Amino acid sequence: MADEAMFEAPVTVALTGASGAQYGLRLIDCLVAARHQVLVLISKAAHMVIATETDESLPSNPERLSEVLRERSGAAPGQIRCFAREDWMAPVASGSGAPSAMVICPCSTGTLSAVATGASNNLIERAADVALKERRQLILVPRETPFSAIHLEHMLTLTRMGAVILPAAPGFYHRPQTLDDMIDFIVARILNQLGIAHALMPRWGEAT
Ligand SMILES: Cc1cc2nc3c(=O)[nH]c(=O)nc-3n(C[C@H](O)[C@H](O)[C@H](O)COP(=O)(O)O)c2cc1C
Repeated sequence: MADEAMFEAPVTVALTGASGAQYGLRLIDCLVAARHQVLVLISKAAHMVIATETDESLPSNPERLSEVLRERSGAAPGQIRCFAREDWMAPVASGSGAPSAMVICPCSTGTLSAVATGASNNLIERAADVALKERRQLILVPRETPFSAIHLEHMLTLTRMGAVILPAAPGFYHRPQTLDDMIDFIVARILNQLGIAHALMPRWGEAT
């Protein structure tokens, strides 16, 4: 059993089936390195995207998944906790147990739509609904191109409710040399939003 007091404030990270699984996996690693506890939710489609885009093969069983993510990120026992799609007893399913911040990264347009309309049909959608109703921090990292009017309207709706829409759109002004540089560009932006210190890349105006 983990001593939760060893960790910084928990953060919920949900990976859904948009392209860009690497962003979500790197975010988990960075939160672990910053000593935060991470509550992880991975959709069925996200598992398919992870298998397509990366060399990772992640199990769907939450206990096994927690173990595999813990090993790959070097987390302490209990630092990463994974929950199943319909585990309504998970802390993230209720305002009394959910962390004060949630990031959906990457966020599919399907999950974007479900969150904007309050569908709550799975634990990711329910956790986001809880974040909105409790006025907690909710960051969505959508990836699609081009966006339809439906996508744009859902993003506007969520922004007006206080969520942050942080598209997976890396900049080039820092002259990225590798794929990792481009991934870190987005992850750095997410960590900035969360107020978590990092050394992934300098902030604008800082010396390189
Ligand atoms: C390899 C792959 C890449 C995909 N890329 C995207 C994408 O970039 N954006 C998106 O919104 N959906 C994308 N999809 C489709 C979603 O996975 C699909 O709509 C799914 O129902 C989303 O479910 P979820 O929101 O529960 O994860 C992709 C699917 C696959 C298999």
